Amino acid sequence: MDDVGILIEALPYIKDFHGSCMVIKIGGHAMIKENMLEDTIKDILLLYFVGIKPVVVHGGGPEISEKMEKLGLKPRFVNGLRVTDKETMEIVEMVLDGKINSKIVTTFIKNGGKAVGISGKDGLLVIARKKKVKKKEGEKEKIIDLGFVGETEFVNPDILRILLDNDFIPVVSPIATDLEGNTYNLNADLVAGDIAAALKAKKLIMLTDVDGILEDLNDPNSLISTMKANDLKDMLKKGKLQGGMIPKGEAVLKALDGGVEKAHIINGSIPHAILLELFTKKGIGTMILR
Ligand SMILES: Nc1ncnc2c1ncn2[C@@H]1O[C@H](COP(=O)(O)OP(=O)(O)OP(=O)(O)O)[C@@H](O)[C@H]1O
Ligand SMILES: [Mg+2]
Repeated sequence: MDDVGILIEALPYIKDFHGSCMVIKIGGHAMIKENMLEDTIKDILLLYFVGIKPVVVHGGGPEISEKMEKLGLKPRFVNGLRVTDKETMEIVEMVLDGKINSKIVTTFIKNGGKAVGISGKDGLLVIARKKKVKKKEGEKEKIIDLGFVGETEFVNPDILRILLDNDFIPVVSPIATDLEGNTYNLNADLVAGDIAAALKAKKLIMLTDVDGILEDLNDPNSLISTMKANDLKDMLKKGKLQGGMIPKGEAVLKALDGGVEKAHIINGSIPHAILLELFTKKGIGTMILR
């Protein structure tokens, strides 16, 4: 009866979510181990088979750095963004599209799903522009050149709608071009946020390697389980988010601003984190409300 109880607890959620679209960002840190990715894909397939339309966006930071080091290049970051010269851009594209995107699609197939791997380039999903990055040096702010680091200029979700309407699961890598054909490396969190807003998704779900947003970065017991967009804005302003959590915070704010109902930041290394967060009363990560 316990097992049935779990299903019955999930019923109101399933009813509420049926037919809605959800954007799920899988961080590179949330797929380091093979079974982590597989568990996540199974969760996403369960969403799919109860009538939710999932869109997957993935990162891949750790694997890009590993490949660079193997090729004798040293990864460098400024404000959490990878310095991306031409050679690095080639590696980024190889790893994200050729390896990670393909691995995610394969894992869907292995578990009975119909996924389609695309980058932001395909179907003009994302038009990018070069990102201007400011860095504080003492009192002054300097604009620095990070090479082929891009940001979203425009999202055109037509290709996603076509795939979703035909029961495919889109898997998107955060690579896009400008209209001159320059290829850029975009932050996957921000791409996920922009896509969620363009689709007016029901939810944006970010899987990472920490339990969620910590009130105090040094205190693992300070997890915030529910917060409002304004509180998150405040934390960003006060510098309480650092490194990889900054683009996550910004992406969540953009998504909520763009009409997404709720955002969740959860730990992808907890087995079946998505199901625990979405279908049980308690939830496990940080939920951010408009
Ligand atoms: N206030 C905070 N609460 C929780 N984590 C924080 C906070 N500020 C900074 N972080 C850091 O953010 C990291 C998560 O972002 P990170 O970019 O490293 O991973 P990812 O986005 O999941 O993976 P990828 O960048 O490969 O897609 C955590 O490991 C943590 O160290
Ligand atoms: Mg990141």
